[in-house]
This record gives sequence, structure tokens and C-alpha cells, in this order.
Amino acid sequence: MRLSVIGCGYLGAVHAAVMASLGHEVIGVDIDSSQIESLAGGRAPFYEPGLKVLLEEGHASGLLSFTTDIAAVEGARIHFVCVGTPQQDGTNAADLRYLHRAIDDLIPHVNPGDVVVGRSTVPVGTASSLAERLSVLGVSLLWNPEFLREGHAVDDTLAPDRIVIGAPATTAGQAGIRTLREAYERLLAADVPLVLTGLETAELAKVAANAFLATKISFANAMAEIADATGADVVTLADAMGHDIRIGRKNLNAGIGFGGGCLPKDLRALAARASELKATVVERFLLNVDEINLRARTRLVDIVVDELGGSVQGRRICILGAAFKPQSDDVRDSPALEVAHHLRRRGAVVVVTDPAAVENARRHHPELRIVEEVDDALDDAEVILVLTDWPQFSQELSPKSVMERTPARTIIDGRNCLTAHEWIDAGWRYAAVGR
Ligand code: UDX
Repeated sequence: MRLSVIGCGYLGAVHAAVMASLGHEVIGVDIDSSQIESLAGGRAPFYEPGLKVLLEEGHASGLLSFTTDIAAVEGARIHFVCVGTPQQDGTNAADLRYLHRAIDDLIPHVNPGDVVVGRSTVPVGTASSLAERLSVLGVSLLWNPEFLREGHAVDDTLAPDRIVIGAPATTAGQAGIRTLREAYERLLAADVPLVLTGLETAELAKVAANAFLATKISFANAMAEIADATGADVVTLADAMGHDIRIGRKNLNAGIGFGGGCLPKDLRALAARASELKATVVERFLLNVDEINLRARTRLVDIVVDELGGSVQGRRICILGAAFKPQSDDVRDSPALEVAHHLRRRGAVVVVTDPAAVENARRHHPELRIVEEVDDALDDAEVILVLTDWPQFSQELSPKSVMERTPARTIIDGRNCLTAHEWIDAGWRYAAVGR
């Protein structure tokens, strides 16, 4: 099937490459010419395991191409809209300008019978207004949110844990569902659960899932505060809670909290939407989740200050981790870099390193000293902070060998990802959140 993908960031680039790997002819369109140049040259513009291979295969088979020219979408049966919906400057709400622009740009090139499938994360109620604009052209609009995690985007798209399709209860809507099911035939053949619903539920399915994941992490961080005040251990507490299958152990890791391009902004956008809907208690609840998350970052800064005897002024701090999570070079709203930034503002001499995000971190935080090699970061450190739980830090650093590479004797585990007793047994002073 000929398909177009409008917006080729994390979501769109991966979606385009995966759809081509399923045998479709895919044209990806984006207004960012450098992004398109990179994708058209078969290069992944960001770190994402498995994407490069799919791009190369797509180019070799001739099924995958990229352009900045929106007219190239003509003739596609489905147009997937995958543009970003970042947080608006100065408010908690989502900025829908890229979405509206994509639809404006697309409209002159659609034909009756085409299906437009929204995959971007949007405030509930957005799709129905777009559906009206498209239906007068004989084009139906569906909403099909994505649930991919960065660092696992290719696997999550090839083997999703569910497919949610929202459509209006009209003949055109039902025809749209049949077309989309045809495009997803190979994914659906693998018995992926399919949830068919209306536009509003589909829009909400994404933000509600992200707000729930965020709430779970903030719950763990709330318990970390209680644990710190009482002498309990939040890691063992999470193990104990997680054995209850209704709770589950995943996303219960306390530390410096969540960041990235999705959870924080989706949580805030839902809070803003709740406010518009006059659901003020719901808004407050979601904002509390956000507040606990942001507090987790400042609580770690407080631990560092305490460990250094009340002031970080002039003290040399090595930070392991810049990406908002492992297996990613994304530094958007990175808790690690925010902690680095705070400590620097308080006068500390901070050096940061990361296995994948050095370049992005330098671009976004030119004020920080960011080095490629762990040894250069450890060099003359007084204290070491682990702020992104890369396996290179959590599993591959040996407490003994690190001791030989640095004068530091204190390690602060901002992700509760180290095996504490190994560090303590090797003579380290170990500190963490909630333990
Ligand atoms: C998230 C959702 O998981 C995904 O389904 C959605 O489509 C997009 O948003 P992603 O942003 O890639 O994906 O990251 P995720 O793996 O969920 O991690 C988010 C943040 O939470 C990271 O900063 C991570 O370090 C942090 N986290 C995660 C915790 O602090 N504790 C945990 O227990 C789990």
C-alpha cells in the first residue's frame, strides 16, 4: 500500500521505516530539511537501536523515501500524521501549531477516499474538530496513538503491546478502519490486541497511559521521601509492593524521576485539559504528580550538598549520565542535566559524561563541561553521581577499579541502580534517594 508519513521525528521516522519493512511503499515528509537529508541518506538523525538497519533496507528495496515536498503525498491511501506536540511556552498546554500546519499543508493533496491517521499525542477533543474539516473532502480521520518508548522504538512499533484505533461511528469511519487494518495486517496477524473505539477514547488512551506511568514513578518518589524520614528502604519497598501483580514492579524505581519528550509534557497537557474541562481536582492531582517529580531532582541536589558538608562551592563533582534515560541520546528535560545545572549554579565544578548523549548535551548545555571519556570525568572528582541508569554505569563499573581511577570515595546513586553493598564493601561511602 502507498502510505505517507507527515512529521519524521522520533515517532514518524521509526513509523515510516517500520511500515516500509512490512512491505509498504512509504514517503516520509518533514519541514526540517536537515532531518530529511539525513533520513534520505539512510542515516538515523538520532540514536535509536535498529533504526539504521531499517533505513538502509528501506532505501535498498526502494520502498522508503523522504522529502520536504508535501505534494509527494499524492496517491497515498493513508497519511499518517506524526508531528510533535510540545509543551507551549509559558503554559502547561500542548502546542498544536505543527499539527494544524500539517493538516493545512496536507489538505490540498488529499483525495476522496484517503484516510488520515493521527498518531501524534493530542489533547482529548482535538481530533473531532479536524475530522469535520476532512470529512467535507471525502477524507476520513482516525486516531491511532503510538506507545513507543525511546530506545525501544523499533521493537515497540514492530511488536506493539496493543493497537488502539479511534474512529467516528460513520460509514466512512468504518471504511477507514478497514483500510488501516489492511496496512497493519502483518502486525495484527501476530495477535496484537486491537482496541477499536471512538476518537476521544483513542486520544485519551495515550495521555492517560503516560500520566499513569508518571504517577507510578512519582508514587515511588513520594515513598522515597517517607523512607528517608523513617529509615525504610525504598528499593526493597518497591520489591515488596511489586510482587502484587495488580501493582507490578515496573516503573516503581525511585530516584531523580522522569524526564524526556513525553511523560512530563503529556502529564502537564492533561492537567491543562482537565482545567479547561473544569475538572479542577483532577488537574490538582496531576500537578502534584509533576511537583513530586521535579522535587526528586532538588532532593538529590540536597543530598549532594549534605554529603559535601553543607556547600558545593568549588567542589569537583563527576556526573555519570546526561540522557533522560539509558539507550537514548535524548536530553530533553533530562533530570541528570538539570541536577548538573543546579549544582553548577551553586558553585560546583561539574564534569558530565554519557555513552550516547555528549553531543546533544553540549548543544543544549554549553555552560556545562561535558567529556567523552568516563576516566576524564572521574579524573580529580571529589564525589561521583550516577544520574542515568546506563548498564555501562550500573553493571560495568567495578567499585575497586573506579577507586583506582579517582580520588573520590563517595558515590551518590540518583537512580538506585547500583548494587549498594558492593560499593560499600569496597570501601565507598554510598548515598541514594530513599535508602
Ligand atoms: C514514555 C512511555 O513509556 C511510552 O509508552 C510513551 O509512548 C512515550 O513516553 P519514554 O519517554 O521513551 O516513553 O520513556 P520511559 O522509558 O517511560 O521513561 C521515562 C522517564 O522515567 C525516564 O526519565 C526514566 O529514567 C524515568 N523512570 C522510569 C523512572 O524514574 N523510574 C522508573 O521506574 C521508570
